[in-house]
Amino acid sequence: MSRLKRALVALAALAVAFVLTLGGGALWLYSDAEVSTAGAVFTRELAVPPLAESRVDSDGTRVFDLTMQAGETEFRTGMKTPTWGFNGDHLGPTLRAKRGEKVGVRIRNTLGEESTVHWHGMHLPARMDGGPHQMVAPGGTWTPRWTVDQPAATLWYHPHPHGSTEKHVQRGLAGMFLLDDATSARLPLPKKYGVDDLPVVVQDVRFDGEKFDHGHRFMANSGFLGDRTMVNGTLDPYKEVGDELVRLRLLNASTARVYHFGFSDDRRFSLVGTDGGLLEKAVAMDRVQLSPGERAEIVVRMEPGERTVLRSHPQKNYGDFWQTRFNGGDDTFDVLELRAAKSLRPSPPVPATLGELELPDGSDSARTRFFGLRMSGINGRPMAMDRIDETVTRGTAETWTVRNEDGVPHNFHVHDVQFRVLAVDGRRPPPELRGAKDTAFVPGGTTVKLAMRFTGPADPDTPYMYHCHLLAHEDRGMMGQFVVVEKGQRAGTVRTAPSHAGH
Ligand code: C2O
Ligand code: CU
Ligand code: CU
Repeated sequence: MSRLKRALVALAALAVAFVLTLGGGALWLYSDAEVSTAGAVFTRELAVPPLAESRVDSDGTRVFDLTMQAGETEFRTGMKTPTWGFNGDHLGPTLRAKRGEKVGVRIRNTLGEESTVHWHGMHLPARMDGGPHQMVAPGGTWTPRWTVDQPAATLWYHPHPHGSTEKHVQRGLAGMFLLDDATSARLPLPKKYGVDDLPVVVQDVRFDGEKFDHGHRFMANSGFLGDRTMVNGTLDPYKEVGDELVRLRLLNASTARVYHFGFSDDRRFSLVGTDGGLLEKAVAMDRVQLSPGERAEIVVRMEPGERTVLRSHPQKNYGDFWQTRFNGGDDTFDVLELRAAKSLRPSPPVPATLGELELPDGSDSARTRFFGLRMSGINGRPMAMDRIDETVTRGTAETWTVRNEDGVPHNFHVHDVQFRVLAVDGRRPPPELRGAKDTAFVPGGTTVKLAMRFTGPADPDTPYMYHCHLLAHEDRGMMGQFVVVEKGQRAGTVRTAPSHAGH
């Protein structure tokens, strides 16, 4: 062979080797991207967050105390992980109040950095919302007050500091806020907290030695994805139950992961509630999908002595092939094992009719708005703290169309209101989107149409947020601001409340 020929052959061999390595690498990355904890062994008893204590003020306000604090948590025997919590080392107590009640929460920030506490799903004045304009300084306090004026529901609370929400939630700042009303009190649904009515706060985690690993996985553009899940801060949790019917209040408190809940034996359950409260009618289902921030209340029937596992199954509507694989759409998690006692207390059947939806149906919308979702921002603009993007008139209903424009998994959350999902890609939404919602999944290629009513109060200077609840996206600016004004009034200048140090 000539010198040239030999050189060409060597070059070709190199090229082949290069392509093979690349291909092999891609294949390895692709198959490595799938995570499954199916078949997990459940070794720890599920922790149930305590109900927060409260006192009633002279003016009838129910007042809670929440202290944001740093600590450490022994998720695994002998290993202490640095964590944050409310009134404890990790997560927070369950707050509970009734419709019509005046509530106040005295928040103390003992962390080394500023943060906020937002009431996700709550209808309340913008100044009390706990968004990025209501920062609480280190060592500071903040005491929002409002009157609960919405149906019974499973809401939650978490920090909302612009740019670092993912980190604050991941470290453990999250808790449930349950609302009750006359309907929920009357209905014979399971309601013994921690017994047959269980808070199920689901988060995915990954550990790096003793510490949490907050790193984003290669190619995962949805944000942080863990390699295992915990419920109420318990890894590999089981719960012994003693009633025929058990109600699970599912909260996806993960920062980027979407779950597709069902059971390991594919048993059916009754879906009774969504983000903003009870459905009109219970629906028999075997799967319910929840993206970050969303909730579902389900009731599952147990036979004496049996066990079943709440499992998150792979999902079909996650966008394209690559987005699905690299953002967790193919993953499986065994989340929580339910262990039924040898004999079970009888439960009344799930009532066929539940709540009443207090939601507009789109027919009286005063106007429509469009929101295009991209990683780079909503409607082409990243969040700006001093810019009001939308101005809505108090008392009016509106229709908002939200479209995923970049194929990356997103969802859409609106503060202050609950909305009705009118359509998903022009079709009637699935049952889990037919109740009151404040957050909806908007995977690649999807358009959702939402109807909501803004009942105020008006405050032209203090905005509420709408945003993607995949927290890494929110942090980088997939968020916008709206104000509620009186008819004919214009948006003002954004006012950021100074946080108060000391008492
Ligand atoms: Cu759960 Cu704006 O947040
Ligand atoms: Cu919210
Ligand atoms: Cu997003």
